[in-house]
Amino acid sequence: MNGHPGGPEHTAHMLDLAALPAGARVLDMGAGAGEALSLMRERGLSAEGIDLQPRSSLVRQGNMHCTGEADAVYDAVFSQCAFWCSGDPDAACREAWRVLKPGGLLIMSDVFFAEPVFPGFTVLREEDLTTLWREYYLEALWREETEPVCLPRGRCTYRIVLARKEQTANGSV
Ligand SMILES: C[S@@+](CC[C@H](N)C(=O)[O-])C[C@H]1O[C@@H](n2cnc3c(N)ncnc32)[C@H](O)[C@@H]1O
Repeated sequence: MNGHPGGPEHTAHMLDLAALPAGARVLDMGAGAGEALSLMRERGLSAEGIDLQPRSSLVRQGNMHCTGEADAVYDAVFSQCAFWCSGDPDAACREAWRVLKPGGLLIMSDVFFAEPVFPGFTVLREEDLTTLWREYYLEALWREETEPVCLPRGRCTYRIVLARKEQTANGSV
């Protein structure tokens, strides 16, 4: 089973939305086994990926809350189904803002339990994939590939978000 709803088609769709030029430097936060990295590299992007528990040699060990990267060095941050899993999506968002160049893009998909807020970013596009996520989660439960998790209260949605870093100071989500 894929590490996110929608499989490689949705990874490709997210990259299409961002329309990054060849050579753009991209950091995948929570890159897992590196499938998205392979796709990005096939498209000519200069893609790197970090994960707390890398599942292939393409991905290096790293924490998306404190990557150790310099400020403003990436053209884009990519993340699929990982900010919430990290336990602190606000910290992940702040770190994405810090490592992005001004005008750089955050391309992410994730589960949200409130209206998403991205301080320091302008949201350019959002797509609702909640139905797909529900099917994905139920299938994972059915196959005993995940444990039922105690979700926060509130209406749960799953979205793709494309946002641009503005040069304003960052706050907390
Ligand atoms: C649901 S998986 C998604 C993996 C991949 N993005 C994909 O779509 O296949 C979430 C990933 O986030 C990683 N992760 C969780 N917390 C993290 C953190 N603080 N820093 C980096 N990676 C983290 C997990 O190890 C896991 O590989």
